[in-house]
Amino acid sequence: MFETAVILGSGLGAAGRKAEDLGGVVVSYDQVPYLPCPAVGGHAGRLILGTGEVDGTLLLQGRVHLYEGHSLDRTTFAVRMLQLLGVRQLLVTNAAGGINDSYRVGDLMLLKGHCTFLNVQHSAVDSRRTPATKLWSDRLRHVARSVDSSLSVHEGVYAMMQGPNYETPAEVQMLKTLGVDAVGMSTVPESLAASAAGMDVLGISCITNLASGLTDQPLNHNEVSRAAAEVESEFVRWIFAVVSRLQL
Ligand code: HPA
Repeated sequence: MFETAVILGSGLGAAGRKAEDLGGVVVSYDQVPYLPCPAVGGHAGRLILGTGEVDGTLLLQGRVHLYEGHSLDRTTFAVRMLQLLGVRQLLVTNAAGGINDSYRVGDLMLLKGHCTFLNVQHSAVDSRRTPATKLWSDRLRHVARSVDSSLSVHEGVYAMMQGPNYETPAEVQMLKTLGVDAVGMSTVPESLAASAAGMDVLGISCITNLASGLTDQPLNHNEVSRAAAEVESEFVRWIFAVVSRLQL
């Protein structure tokens, strides 16, 4: 029985490799009927059935995005599969651009709120049962905060933009004015679907870059992957510790 699942975003797949090294069983997404396979670099498309320290946990190495042209149905398919497998708590990770002035590359942000201008409310998600105020679990955030890390762990508001282009500097200024702390292109559809399915959800952003216009650094997918690789080992240690503490 799997009670916990972790969706690993861009460049954060190392936790899946560690679970594999510990004896986890690997299933390629293309072996699972109807499960869409990621096409973006850094998203391996593998499901790892955890054992040992992460016994009872499923790790999903990679996701598909709306910006790849997938429907909401396909973007949230994995979550409905997890629901059928009995998952009750879901950790959803992503790479994100930092907007809050105090955020640095390599920091983590636990989502305490989100905004998006997209229609991500799937028809299968009953909006009356999914009040956005209840989306991000206080309990899971509390447990995550109780695990020490050498990385700075913030709590903040995530904005999901459609992508696939990064934001313009003007859009980043708009988001900052609106009170957004970090920006990315994922997480919200899966989290809404999970919450509607009755799961507790923890959103985790890894700040892989400062958002567009906040630095002279070029912003591209390679930079995002490189920054994620630099924090990889500590991120893996921390997320394993969080998952162990969450075991029901
Ligand atoms: N914007 C949107 N998505 C992202 C970013 C960003 O700056 N960094 C990583 N994913």
